[in-house]
Amino acid sequence: MDFKLTPEQEMIRDMVRDFTEKSIKPVAALHDEEKHFPYQNIKRMADLGLMGMNISVEYGGSEVGVIAYSLAITEIAKGCASHAVTTSVSNMVAEVICEFGKEEIKRKHLPKICSGEYPAGSFALTEPHAGSDAANIRTSAVRKNDNYILNGSKTLITSGDVSGVTIVWAVTERNAKKGKGITTFAVEKGTPGFIVGKAEEKMGHRASSTTELSFDNCIVPADCVLGKEGEGFKIAMMELDGGRIGIGSLAVGVGFSAIDFAVQYVKEREAFGKPLTSFEAIQWMIADSYTGLEAAQLLVLRAAYLKENKLPFTKEASMAKLFATETARNAALHAIQMLGGYGYTRDYPVERYLRDIIGTTLYEGTSEVQRIVISREILQG
Ligand code: CAA
Repeated sequence: MDFKLTPEQEMIRDMVRDFTEKSIKPVAALHDEEKHFPYQNIKRMADLGLMGMNISVEYGGSEVGVIAYSLAITEIAKGCASHAVTTSVSNMVAEVICEFGKEEIKRKHLPKICSGEYPAGSFALTEPHAGSDAANIRTSAVRKNDNYILNGSKTLITSGDVSGVTIVWAVTERNAKKGKGITTFAVEKGTPGFIVGKAEEKMGHRASSTTELSFDNCIVPADCVLGKEGEGFKIAMMELDGGRIGIGSLAVGVGFSAIDFAVQYVKEREAFGKPLTSFEAIQWMIADSYTGLEAAQLLVLRAAYLKENKLPFTKEASMAKLFATETARNAALHAIQMLGGYGYTRDYPVERYLRDIIGTTLYEGTSEVQRIVISREILQG
């Protein structure tokens, strides 16, 4: 077993770490405060090759592999979870198009995602009554000649208002068995009848937009179907497996930032006439947080390794996401506890880390959904 990264993976990690220090960390608090989507940084990150990391060079991607992608998302998240989730979802959208799109659709959208011409891509699966129960969506797509007509609504869509292309799941065969009869479409921004609705007012990830979308007789050419008609639910599940590696990676980054900050803080403070670092209560929080986060990163990288080597990784991605997001949440709570009352103020970034990390236990499948996936995989052999 080789735990060593390749020189290329190390180079990408270090490049993104440097970018985060210089360009993301200094603006993260303001972006959070003002709910400002980081257009400028996203374009610069695209120029660094971070928007199509598993997309072939032919379509504008950097094709550096899933491990390098995981390391990059962790480094970005150390500066700002919103930058990281935008990057993660755009990469996921590019992968769906690359894997399932017709040549013309790939050529149309992939270079624009990879180059940052599109500020983002978005993944529209969730509906107001179908979150965890994703197979229960109701948005419909009816075939008419060479087009499909979409009607329905989506909710909680990351980058829904800024994305250049949105992957939409809709029911094409109403009477099909649950999980069948759903089809995947690539819908271009500005398509008549594709309406961007209200932006959610969120606790965290405030610099990433999250919106409602609706489709009112939205006409989408049949060429925009990704994969085969009726097989969309499987596509969603497969792509979410990969997305969960992204969110696990993100959580590791936020968790490390929180505890790193708290460690610097306790090194400089005293209480009861002694350095804070001399208290066992503090030492244990440090030990538990770093042990958990390092274990989480190993799980995330194992899932990334499996995906990169085209081996099954559904269970491993869910384990990584479940463990990384919950462990990072604990690390952020420890960080706040270590700062005491100051940790609860906006003068320090740890409250933002906690607000951001809570979202990661919810989107791309809640912790409860990950437990369903993991236990099914184990019980079904
Ligand atoms: N890979 C390939 N196929 C899969 C699969 C996978 N990982 N998981 C399921 N399938 C297939 C099954 O094999 C089955 O196919 P057959 O009928 O041919 O055997 C079919 O899909 C249906 O699967 P299930 O019976 O497991 O379906 P279910 O309804 O019981 O699904 C669930 C259960 C796992 C909870 C699923 O609904 C799920 O993952 N829910 C969470 C959805 C989610 O993560 N939403 C996040 C929204 S996107 C987001 O957050 C992005 C963002 O913007 C940040």
